[in-house]
Amino acid sequence: MPGRWWTMIEGIGVDVVEIGRVQRTIDTWGNDFLGKIFTDQELAYAHSKRNPVHHIAARFAVKEAVAKALSTGWSGGFRWKDVEVENDAAGKPSVVLYGRVKELLQGSKIIVSISHSENVVVAFALIER
Ligand SMILES: CC(C)(COP(=O)(O)OP(=O)(O)OC[C@H]1O[C@@H](n2cnc3c(N)ncnc32)[C@H](O)[C@@H]1OP(=O)(O)O)[C@@H](O)C(=O)NCCC(=O)NCCS
Repeated sequence: MPGRWWTMIEGIGVDVVEIGRVQRTIDTWGNDFLGKIFTDQELAYAHSKRNPVHHIAARFAVKEAVAKALSTGWSGGFRWKDVEVENDAAGKPSVVLYGRVKELLQGSKIIVSISHSENVVVAFALIER
């Protein structure tokens, strides 16, 4: 809305993911799982790191956090790959939207944050308009 100086928080979402669980899913389903959930850019980023599964788990957590921040959750007919995590030169994550999620969030801004520990990752997402 032009001329408006304030923003409104539309939703927040948080998700914790156990890295071991993601590793077991990859061991069982391999590329079927990876290719369904993650974009090529997300996988390339993860594989450029020392512990790819940590970054894969983190991207999974971001997608779930965004789904929670959306009032519709994942029920609106959109795909995991419609939410893509990218990192700027400093490492700061943001999301690029595609498809139905992009339509739903036209005019909104999403802010995300990720943290890793040895066994779990957590992601937080905030949608503002
Ligand atoms: C940003 C920073 C606080 C992250 O601290 P950390 O404890 O290593 O971070 P965590 O392990 O909890 O989380 C890692 C996530 O932080 C996020 N992150 C990385 N750099 C970030 C930045 N500049 N701003 C915001 N988030 C950032 C990423 O999403 C990363 O996960 P991903 O690689 O899977 O996307 C720290 O790296 C920092 O201060 N960086 C700036 C200074 C710097 O580059 N120092 C070099 C090290 S000597």
